[in-house]
Amino acid sequence: MKADIVTIFPDFFRGPLDYGITRRATEMGLVRVEVHDLRQFTHDRHRTVDDRPFGGGEGMVLKPEPIFECLEPLQLASRDDRLAGTAKENVILLSPQGERFTQKVATELASLDRIVLICGRYEGVDERVADFLADRELSIGDYVLSGGELAAAVVIEAVTRLLPGAVGNEASTRQESFTEHVESERSEAADSTCSSNGLLDYPHYTRPAEFRGMRVPEVLVNGHHQEIRRWRREQALKKTLRNRPDLLGRVTLNDEDKAILNRMKIPRD
Ligand code: ADE
Repeated sequence: MKADIVTIFPDFFRGPLDYGITRRATEMGLVRVEVHDLRQFTHDRHRTVDDRPFGGGEGMVLKPEPIFECLEPLQLASRDDRLAGTAKENVILLSPQGERFTQKVATELASLDRIVLICGRYEGVDERVADFLADRELSIGDYVLSGGELAAAVVIEAVTRLLPGAVGNEASTRQESFTEHVESERSEAADSTCSSNGLLDYPHYTRPAEFRGMRVPEVLVNGHHQEIRRWRREQALKKTLRNRPDLLGRVTLNDEDKAILNRMKIPRD
């Protein structure tokens, strides 16, 4: 996969992408990230990338011209082909106004050959970028950052680790929190000792079995396969109920899950 980042802070990406999974995936040739400095596509002495908003109001708005000009030499497929899916490319504007970036979106992006991430800045980006250049607008969460750079790094990390071969144990990326399995995978996943199926992940422990008086749950140390599987499912349900009850309405719960939730006094049909 090729990932292009359009930003006024190209140096920002020196850190986040030079460690861990993105570094490894880059070295393995699974992903190639190119950072484009938006200021190189300006034509004035001050290398101006922003201007005051039409209609008045606070703050500055990123101008459209440098962003459009930056994308021209990238030789992307036409926007029509990208939107129709005939070209496996996506141009993405990162902004708090975007559609929520989820594991599902990360999976969609991981199936593409190329993504272009435009980092918004200041109080906004001229809307013609969203309307005529970008294929989709993504937000990494319901909070406002000063720019899309951190969001772009988040997207690249989440997408890169889904590329085949990027993470040592590929099965583990499929079983993490938020991963919803397609129907054909369900029965296999249900048998697994570590499937989350759209719930938050269950708790993990490693040695020592006792640390400062805090013991690892007995079932993990001495339990059998079935007991461990049941305990993990119960813990995943418990954690989801406590931290993200909204997710419970979206997953398919089996009879065992419903019984567990009933015991926690939350009936689900
Ligand atoms: N830019 C500013 N805030 C953002 C957010 N929450 N997601 C993506 N880009 C952003």
